[in-house]
Amino acid sequence: EKQGFKHFMLKEIYEQPGVVRSCLEAYIDTHWTAADHTHSPIRLNLPADLYADLQHIQIVACGTSWHAGLVGKYLLEQLAGIPTSVQYASEFRYAPSPLTPHTLTIGVTQSGETADTLAALAMEKQRRSGHSAEFQARLLGITNRPESSLGDLVPHIIDTHAGIEIGVAATKTFVAQLMAFYCLAIDLAHHRQVIAPTQLEQLLEGLQQLPAQIEVVLESQERYIEQLAHDFAETQDFIFLGRGINFPIALEGALKLKEISYIHAEGYPAGEMKHGPIALLDAKVPVVAIAMPGTVFEKVLSNAQEAKARDARLIGVTPMDEHEAAETFDTLIPVPHVDEILSPIVTVIPLQLLAYHIAARRGLDVDQPRNLAKSVTVE
Ligand code: F6R
Repeated sequence: EKQGFKHFMLKEIYEQPGVVRSCLEAYIDTHWTAADHTHSPIRLNLPADLYADLQHIQIVACGTSWHAGLVGKYLLEQLAGIPTSVQYASEFRYAPSPLTPHTLTIGVTQSGETADTLAALAMEKQRRSGHSAEFQARLLGITNRPESSLGDLVPHIIDTHAGIEIGVAATKTFVAQLMAFYCLAIDLAHHRQVIAPTQLEQLLEGLQQLPAQIEVVLESQERYIEQLAHDFAETQDFIFLGRGINFPIALEGALKLKEISYIHAEGYPAGEMKHGPIALLDAKVPVVAIAMPGTVFEKVLSNAQEAKARDARLIGVTPMDEHEAAETFDTLIPVPHVDEILSPIVTVIPLQLLAYHIAARRGLDVDQPRNLAKSVTVE
């Protein structure tokens, strides 16, 4: 069943190019060009009134799905211009945000069975009862398991096409959730006419290239990251830094490492380091910085320099060439040049591999980490 891979997690990491391809095939009209701008290139099969007068989106989720929600917020705000909030389902349940008829609530859960996420959505359903049918319908689930309790609860689903995931650490389901958010944000941006047709065409071209770019990272980096993992088998603390759309990827890199290698790790928005966490740094704490060219590139590099000044070993996930990167980073994990807005799909891959290989190196049960279950069906 593992098809030659040592663990399901590694197999699922390698399934990611295929998962992204399936999402592209399912939801995007590949023949669309800017000349076709009167209709959307996205086919999510959602009813048109879901988008009417939308003024706010609230996303509820847990764990890795919550990280996908944070990337979703970036896309929904920056591409579609819709104010979006992302809440931990376990917090939201007991302190829900005020609701307006113009709010769309999105629950993100790969298993479709997470108790807190289901309870938060059930509460939202309840809060809408007695209101217009249109308002009651403003609930959307994003999952790879449409035949789940989530599927029974909400009127609309985006099936992420990731299939069942066996490794407890979410990998391919996360990337698939991101794809669902790209589709939703692009579709909304088109509907609201807030994206230029040429920009949309470029985005679609970029999306089409992602499977091959993930393959490049897998082929060129896996052995190298396996080697690199040797250096960290005894490490006790790790810091992951990112900004903008890659801040949630820093959180995700830290979560992957924590859950399967049991190494303490924290993800931070790089600009927050100087407000406290920088006090943690010394030569024993490696820092992984995600530095993708775009709006916050220079900022991330200067935040990374601040960490380096505290003797931290700096590892850069970046498309910079070796020579250029050597000015800032001690260790380079090269990734292809990808448009900043699409980059999380590529930057998360080496972080998954790093967590995997460190845990494997430590001889841990990667697919069944201690204290964790694949579905968290209790509160
Ligand atoms: C992380 C992980 C958990 C889940 C979380 C939510 O690798 O697996 O953090 O992401 O328990 O699970 P779902 O997405 O099933 O709601």
